Amino acid sequence: MIESDRPREIVLGVSGGIAAYKSCEVLRRLREAGHHVQVVATRSALEFIGAATFEALSGRPVMTGVFENVHDVEHVALGRRAELVLLVPATADLLARMTQGRADDLLTSTLLTARCPVLAVPAMHTEMWEHPATVDNVATLRRRGTVVLEPASGRLTGADTGPGRLPEPPEIAEFARLLLEWGASTSAGGTEPFPLPRDLEGRRVVVSAGGTAEPLDPVRTLGNRSSGRQGYALARVAAQRGADVTLVAGTIADLDPPAAVDLRRVQTTREMRDAVLDASKAADVVVMAAAVSDFRPTALSAGKIKKGEEPPSIPLEFNPDILRELVTEDVPRRLVVGFAAETGDEHGSVLDYGRAKLERKGCDLLVVNAVGAGKAFEMEDNEGWLLGADGSSMSLPMGSKAALAARVWDAVAERLP
Ligand code: CTP
Repeated sequence: MIESDRPREIVLGVSGGIAAYKSCEVLRRLREAGHHVQVVATRSALEFIGAATFEALSGRPVMTGVFENVHDVEHVALGRRAELVLLVPATADLLARMTQGRADDLLTSTLLTARCPVLAVPAMHTEMWEHPATVDNVATLRRRGTVVLEPASGRLTGADTGPGRLPEPPEIAEFARLLLEWGASTSAGGTEPFPLPRDLEGRRVVVSAGGTAEPLDPVRTLGNRSSGRQGYALARVAAQRGADVTLVAGTIADLDPPAAVDLRRVQTTREMRDAVLDASKAADVVVMAAAVSDFRPTALSAGKIKKGEEPPSIPLEFNPDILRELVTEDVPRRLVVGFAAETGDEHGSVLDYGRAKLERKGCDLLVVNAVGAGKAFEMEDNEGWLLGADGSSMSLPMGSKAALAARVWDAVAERLP
């Protein structure tokens, strides 16, 4: 078991916005992961969601005011006990009260006493998110160490759309886990860098994810296995570190679009090539996490290929190598990161094959995963090595795909001019 997966004491702060209903789903996920969750709701949050819902899901009474359980001095005890404070949603009003250091209810008092990571997940109308007051408050809170997520864009309460939408609950749970993993490694006496610094602000990043699929006929495809989870985690983490992210996704598992990311869907390798090269024109970094299909049928059958007496032979031809094109393209130099899924054999280890691939592909960094039964593919967690063209090599310990992504971005940020 990974240390971060041991049960933790989490305060889930809920403030009064329509997105409060999604906090129930976040709560359910945290409980399913085995954590103890204390819901601290503002009075206005309880106008949106009844306390009974939170109580049934958390197995604990909901707390709101500083005058409940006074003998336990809850406004201090809660903050001291918490290993993570998660604010879902964080309304403009809550962000403003946090910035001022107010202690006018149990949630803000708890925030003043907590010394653990605080993850604020804003949700509000675009005008409120973009108002200079909110922009300043978010900048102040980030400077003080609070992780304030970028909201998603999309449908808001009414028919209006724009940035301000709460990221989807699985994404919030992924970032909560990332902060718990980080907390675990620092409390173990390590000197881990913080996983979500705003060090990619002003950078343009392209990430490819998932597999590509080449149609053989109207119903069949030739493709690569990939859930897309690692590429999605790379895109999510980069966006929350401030980058302007384009995610080019091929065939993937059932994943929600990451918040604050420009998502482009493709199917074939040639479509992926065009989308990646186009988005990469102005990019500082390109990460090819996709499992790209190396071959395609020479011809697409217009009708369904019939079973017949014998299995058909399907002639194949090579697809373009996107990574090779990226490193040989005649454009201003950008940092290119490749991925390699390898198995070792009697001729060499996974790392030997990874090092050879790094040289062959000519990229700056290569993430090497050992694959095989129960490893990497379709798994929640991942591990491997990060090899540099400069001869460097770093182990990527077993952890969430977001944690692996954070380490990759650390290495990228170090190498950016
Ligand atoms: N890649 C690519 N275009 C291809 C094939 C692979 O851009 N046509 C990228 C992948 O996204 C990955 C890296 O190259 O970042 C390595 O992928 P892999 O499939 O391991 O490389 P191959 O060159 O196909 O090597 P192998 O002979 O081991 O299959």
